[in-house]
Amino acid sequence: MHVLETQAKAPGKVNLYLAVGNPREDGYHPLATLFSSVNIYETVTARDAQELGITLSLNIVPDSLVDQQHRAGEFDPAEVPLNEKNLAYRAAVAMVQARGLTVNDLNLHLHIDKAVPVAGGMAGGSADAAAALLAVDQYLYEKRLTERTLGLEELLALAAPLGADVPFVVRAAFPLGGLAVGEGTGTELSIVELPEDMIPLDIVLVAASEGLSTPQVFSELDEGRTAGRYAEAGELQVPSGLLHALTQTETPIARLHEVGRQLRNDLQAPAVTLAPELETILTMDNESIVEAFVSGSGPTVAILVEDAPAADELAAALRRRGRHAVATQTPAAS
Ligand code: C5P
Repeated sequence: MHVLETQAKAPGKVNLYLAVGNPREDGYHPLATLFSSVNIYETVTARDAQELGITLSLNIVPDSLVDQQHRAGEFDPAEVPLNEKNLAYRAAVAMVQARGLTVNDLNLHLHIDKAVPVAGGMAGGSADAAAALLAVDQYLYEKRLTERTLGLEELLALAAPLGADVPFVVRAAFPLGGLAVGEGTGTELSIVELPEDMIPLDIVLVAASEGLSTPQVFSELDEGRTAGRYAEAGELQVPSGLLHALTQTETPIARLHEVGRQLRNDLQAPAVTLAPELETILTMDNESIVEAFVSGSGPTVAILVEDAPAADELAAALRRRGRHAVATQTPAAS
């Protein structure tokens, strides 16, 4: 019997800018962020299964940050819920229901190839959800359960209720969607157009041994602001100077240093309070380092370096010292 199989991938992200306002009544924070996809992907495969409903499985991508955490005994794939708590499962259900179907109309297996850390500030779970939306959309269509796949706007509408980062990673799964300003809670996106000769930034991502809870990092920011430990909320606007520096291509080194100067993350100080060991990586001294910053709510640290060989060298040096590190680029080449 022919087994139908569809596959989609969605990247992780870093935030090159993240200004956070004071919490709204629903607990969410208004923000202005510059999302930038990274060349590290979650892959979801949807295929025919024996069992009724939706089942899940997970594999770790060899040599990824997740693999390095796993080999160090710091990530146990058995702790990832392979049930309705999983964001990929919830994304699949959202897609199935949006198409007028129910879970029990299907015998569907979803397999996740995981490379982006869990609770790392890199939208790992959100990328699973984004890839699941796309793989299931294609699956339902090829199964002839739907007459067409969804358009981007329809996909984004399904993505937003799944989490604040999910719309961006859906967008970044498509060509030229890898750099976007996010406003509102992060779900209102404006794509930043990239010049054809745009040189991506070379970064080294350093994963921590334990994740951080995003709500806890936001709460620490709120409490610290009230207590005067962190600067008060500023203007919620991604500076045009940063966008300009990123997209100009003439003077690579000057551009990098300008980008480095304009990076900002309001969640960095609270993330460091909750995980003080991050300070060592953030203040590391090496002549190829332009700037180091926490990715999103952390604890992953992104280190902006001068070029790709420097990124490879730094990542290898960090791994030799027992850290979990990979060299990559942002925004991801599409
Ligand atoms: O939307 P998502 O489920 O990814 O968000 C996780 C948590 O992060 C939320 O429950 C909330 O506590 C916090 N958050 C926030 N403001 C945002 C985005 C996330 O407070 N704009």
